[in-house]
Amino acid sequence: MTTERTRQLSDGSRIPLLGLGVWQVPNGTATVDAVRWALELGYRHIDTAQGYGNEESVGQALRESGVPRDEVYITTKFFPNAKDPEAELEHSLKRLGVDQVDLYLVHWPKGGPVRACDTVTRSASVPPVVNQVQFSAVEYRRGLLEAAEKLGIALEAYSPLGTGRHLTDSRVAAIAERSGRTPAQVLIRWCVQRGLPVIPKSTRRERIAENADVFDFTLSDADMAALDALDKTGGTDRAREGKWW
Ligand code: A2P
Repeated sequence: MTTERTRQLSDGSRIPLLGLGVWQVPNGTATVDAVRWALELGYRHIDTAQGYGNEESVGQALRESGVPRDEVYITTKFFPNAKDPEAELEHSLKRLGVDQVDLYLVHWPKGGPVRACDTVTRSASVPPVVNQVQFSAVEYRRGLLEAAEKLGIALEAYSPLGTGRHLTDSRVAAIAERSGRTPAQVLIRWCVQRGLPVIPKSTRRERIAENADVFDFTLSDADMAALDALDKTGGTDRAREGKWW
């Protein structure tokens, strides 16, 4: 059984496999509550972005939670419309009220030459450690995952529930029923069991709790294979870059 809750990245640091994503959660009470509940429920990884506009609320919840800063893994992202990532990072740190973040991602490649992992690793003086992409059983970008692993880059899965759409898939529901779990837990477990960091989003306390309860069961090889077969990308080596939501 995979009970490992963190993964070592290629620079030696560790990332908690489960994080709370706050994409599309408005700044203010909704984000403060979601992050505070997550921290109360044991999450130690929060994924935000300059472009989400809710870094202030993430910072507020972190301070109000009383959980020490160094116990929480915080990701934020540089929105490439701006020119200067270092200046933008300073703004993010100020909004978050922290001295540093644990992971700083380029939010979108913006059509530049960073489409493929190997292009960026060839041109970077410091190799990237994480590539966060749309990834789930239904968007099982096997080629991208294999390329990332070969380069020592951890693929991190956003929208593991397909922004909620995959939860009603009858094949996911059947596996959930067999496992005595919920569809969300099955889809999140599919990532965790592969050792992939995953950041499901919810603004509801009971769902935030449900989504974290994925470390005490194992999907059988047959169920993993059945989930793999839901892939609609054809095992692509491409990330999703255009607007799709
Ligand atoms: P809500 O925030 O109202 O809970 P993804 O992480 O793939 O982007 O999916 C997020 C979407 O899935 C949100 O709409 C969220 O709604 C919903 N969601 C998250 N967790 C659960 C869950 N355990 N059961 C049902 N829906 C969920």
